[in-house]
Amino acid sequence: MEKILKIAVLAGDGIGPEVMDVGVNVLESVAEKCGFNLQLDHQLVGGAAIDAAGSPLPANTVKSCEQADAILFGSVGGPKWANLPPNDQPERGALLPLRKRFGLFANLRPSVCHQALTHASPVRPDLIPNGFDVLCVRELTGGLYFGEPKFRKVEESGDILAVDTMVYRKSEIVRIAHVGFKAAMTRDKRLTSVDKANVLENSILWRETVTEIAKEYPEVTVDHLYVDNAAMQLIRNAPGFDVLLTENLFGDILSDEMAMIAGSLGMLASASLGEAKGDGLYFGMYEPSGGSAPDLAGKGVANPIAQILSVALMLRFSFGEEDAAKMIENAVNQAISDGFRTGDIMTSEDGLKLVGTVEMGNAVIERL
Ligand code: IPM
Ligand code: MG
Repeated sequence: MEKILKIAVLAGDGIGPEVMDVGVNVLESVAEKCGFNLQLDHQLVGGAAIDAAGSPLPANTVKSCEQADAILFGSVGGPKWANLPPNDQPERGALLPLRKRFGLFANLRPSVCHQALTHASPVRPDLIPNGFDVLCVRELTGGLYFGEPKFRKVEESGDILAVDTMVYRKSEIVRIAHVGFKAAMTRDKRLTSVDKANVLENSILWRETVTEIAKEYPEVTVDHLYVDNAAMQLIRNAPGFDVLLTENLFGDILSDEMAMIAGSLGMLASASLGEAKGDGLYFGMYEPSGGSAPDLAGKGVANPIAQILSVALMLRFSFGEEDAAKMIENAVNQAISDGFRTGDIMTSEDGLKLVGTVEMGNAVIERL
């Protein structure tokens, strides 16, 4: 019997639907070449779901995700919904609840600067002569995003108080540390843990716990950086990093920085995973890290590579289709080597071809 991949497809808002179309085309081409079947269930999410169904995360969408083995996600949010109450907005009403609902605590953001893209980086090319390859392992269901209490109130004085709470349990740090160290073992065996242990109580626990778990991975070289220093070191010497392990908000910030140093936020894929299942595979949600980019939406110019590479991560982690994942990653590298560039990664060197979203997708599909 042929294998069937059950996937909930949530394109969302902004550039989401455009890049998702390309991502799905790539997925379908690979499925045909590798001989597996797809069962794709397209559902509404985010602002699109608010407009059509009155909720950013309709019950049908959650049900579709529950019945699938993976969620392929585009992006949500935009100015049209930015004035709704916070919990009704696409981000807090759909994206964060999906992460929490499915226990997706481990967010992997691989940032690879292709050698041919060193000139697209805002960092001096001599600082990244051979490009680089850094994996950010971001804790995704704890910290300031989810900690309670979280509220806003008007005080007796008339002043307004807003509270977010940064909470980590040791058990949450232990499980994400294992993800980081296991990833390091498959790579260059170097891990940098990022915290703010000179100020924050839960960063002190973070550092202690990572130090403890490190003993189980004696082959991995570990160092600890404060987050401000890490932000600086990334710009100064991105190739000096291998795995970056950090908590939710620090990871949100540093992964954007990393992506930009690698050339563009439009290249940064991500996998959000829960615990491994018995078969070693993961239920996961796969999405570009860059957001809905409302300014680019509808113009056909957005870079689809983050979405395409998210498809590769999905095939790897949720379906164990390593060959198919590699096929996609190689095709993306080849399209870049052959000079195809969307606007965000276009530079002035000779031989480059400025292309739109669909053309970039086709360039990748032709190279599968
Ligand atoms: C990301 C995004 C989200 C986050 C937003 C849209 C809530 O920036 O995935 O990095 O902060 O996690
Ligand atoms: Mg972000």
